[in-house]
Amino acid sequence: MDKIKISELKENADNTVLLRGWVQGARSSGKLIFLLLRDGSGSCQCIVEAGAEEAFAEAEKLSLESSVEIEGRVKLDERAPSGAELSVHRVKPIHVAEDYPISRKAHGVDFLMQHRHLWLRSERQTAIMRIRHSIIRAVRDFFDGNGFTLIDTPIITPDAAEGAGTLFALDYFGEEAYLAQTGQLYLESAAMALGKVYCFGPTFRAEKSKTRRHLTEFWMVEPELAFAELPDLLELAEDMTTSILARVLEKHRDDLAMLGRDASRLEAVKKPFPRLSYSEAVELLQSDKTREKLEEEMARDRERLQRWRDELKDLEQRIKQPMKKWKLAKAEERISELGREIGKLEVDLENRPQHIADAAAFEWGRDLGGDEETIISNQFDRPVFITEYPCGAKAFYMKRSPEDPRVVLNLDMLAPEGYGEIIGGSQREDDLDLLMERIESEGMDPENYQWYLDLRRFGSVPHGGYGLGIERMVAWVCGLHHVRETIPFPRLMGRMYP
Ligand code: 4AD
Ligand code: MG
Repeated sequence: MDKIKISELKENADNTVLLRGWVQGARSSGKLIFLLLRDGSGSCQCIVEAGAEEAFAEAEKLSLESSVEIEGRVKLDERAPSGAELSVHRVKPIHVAEDYPISRKAHGVDFLMQHRHLWLRSERQTAIMRIRHSIIRAVRDFFDGNGFTLIDTPIITPDAAEGAGTLFALDYFGEEAYLAQTGQLYLESAAMALGKVYCFGPTFRAEKSKTRRHLTEFWMVEPELAFAELPDLLELAEDMTTSILARVLEKHRDDLAMLGRDASRLEAVKKPFPRLSYSEAVELLQSDKTREKLEEEMARDRERLQRWRDELKDLEQRIKQPMKKWKLAKAEERISELGREIGKLEVDLENRPQHIADAAAFEWGRDLGGDEETIISNQFDRPVFITEYPCGAKAFYMKRSPEDPRVVLNLDMLAPEGYGEIIGGSQREDDLDLLMERIESEGMDPENYQWYLDLRRFGSVPHGGYGLGIERMVAWVCGLHHVRETIPFPRLMGRMYP
């Protein structure tokens, strides 16, 4: 008999097959036991009849998340999630699970994070992991198919590349070393050897900020190109982004639906993406039009808050009356959900007038923070590029604009729907003296960067690249509020377990 995956059920209509997996749900009607089995490729309903005595007795032993082998006949069923059901002949428990800590009721985020090793088994989390996998495949395919060579850059590094403030130090045989914040500087030297290169690897930032966009360990893909200028980088980032989205839309309709993600928001993302200079972005932030939009949004959110409060009051009254057990459970779950959402929105709304005032008072020269990014990106239905930031707000290696030396030739790509910066990059300073000046004025030791300066001594050319944070991309594509769900085992300030 064939051992098959749940995803292969449809091709096995009327055959007797063997499935192996875990019990995702079980219910009994007395005469029938319905086991919901998952095996990583999908889920399938397995029906055990009381007439199949031995199988029925074994199925009764199975608790949630028990592992099991099930033999049965495949019956096609259009309405079933996997397109088929199994009519069971034999059930062989492999391991009967202890009481499973994660139930269907809503758990707090801390509890789920503490049980991340088990939480990963949930339908939502597996959908996210599959999409993450496809995003990474699509990125690699994009660069591999466009003449880029993969270069693996070191993780143990002697110096900072993205500012000393976010370095994780380690002891390297008595010498201080750091976990890599980027592969970029090494990639620049590889670009002078191979022309078009990219790296993809883990990246470390000792970010002391507990935001929904920051991890301390994340995965970044970075292309770097010789003979490239800012407009070339914008075009590359645009093409890469649309090809990633096309892949996800082609392969993951079901996963997106499972996550409640509105796929039309991703379908709307078409080239060209709007391009704004930093100065234009600042004008947009300060404009009356933006203030009006933000005030309208605040008014809408206040109405939403009122609707939720009314619903909560109503539910709290209703559960005082006698009601069926399952209805009560449902009402209580909604009450706790409303409580959380109302709390979040209240805090948010309290800060809102200040945010609106801050945006209007934003001064040229400051880096754009998460709040400003959200305000700007919310005004577009597709990613937006912001270019030419003030030098002071950006890294030492960025090339100054020949037209305006106050700004650098950089790009940030902000994702729509408030997801903020998911790509950051620039054309690099290719002039030896100007780069030296920047290194010194940043208080960095030029001795440590001699190898990097060599690239400006031996055949320097205009070049540049960018970095895409995989987790922020996954968060946007999946429509997730926080990056912690986008990576199997997130590392955050205050979290290393499991
Ligand atoms: O803008 P960043 O810091 O740029 C660089 O590291 C450049 N050296 C890249 C290059 O030009 N080759 O980071 C690039 C991207 C960000 O846009 C963001 O998506 C992601 O990396 N990122 C983070 N993601 C999660 N947690 C963090 N703490 C992140 N910091 C940056
Ligand atoms: Mg950045």
